[in-house]
Amino acid sequence: MSLVEQAAEIRENAYAPYSKFKVGAALRTPSGAVYLGCNVENAAYPEGTCAEAGAIAAMIAGGDTEIAEIAVIADAPVPVTPCGGCRQKIAEFAKPDVVVTMATTSGMEAQMRVADLLPGAFDASQME
Ligand code: THU
Repeated sequence: MSLVEQAAEIRENAYAPYSKFKVGAALRTPSGAVYLGCNVENAAYPEGTCAEAGAIAAMIAGGDTEIAEIAVIADAPVPVTPCGGCRQKIAEFAKPDVVVTMATTSGMEAQMRVADLLPGAFDASQME
């Protein structure tokens, strides 16, 4: 199954009773391991978490630290781009050339590099 297909499958488990906007994310590490996430909303709205954040948390819990490829999917008229916070979270674990695939449940797909999604990203080297 492709990364987009796996993201679509996990999207079904999203907990999004407030926005009704279910999102799924799937990432692959260089070793081929795949980690999945979906958005998890909360009655206290700001406490909700994005699908990408869930997949990254699963990756770290699984003992991996590098994203080789990541896909996000939602039921939207155009491919949904990761929010600003998730761009920063992805950039923490992905090299600038890593491809982010954004897909819709209707079959549209767009791709962008991490460096293009978050130009001028703050990173650890700035704290040296
Ligand atoms: N959301 C994600 O999970 N990932 C994105 O890339 C965009 C937005 C979620 C957050 C919230 O639960 C819902 O979509 C509406 O913003």
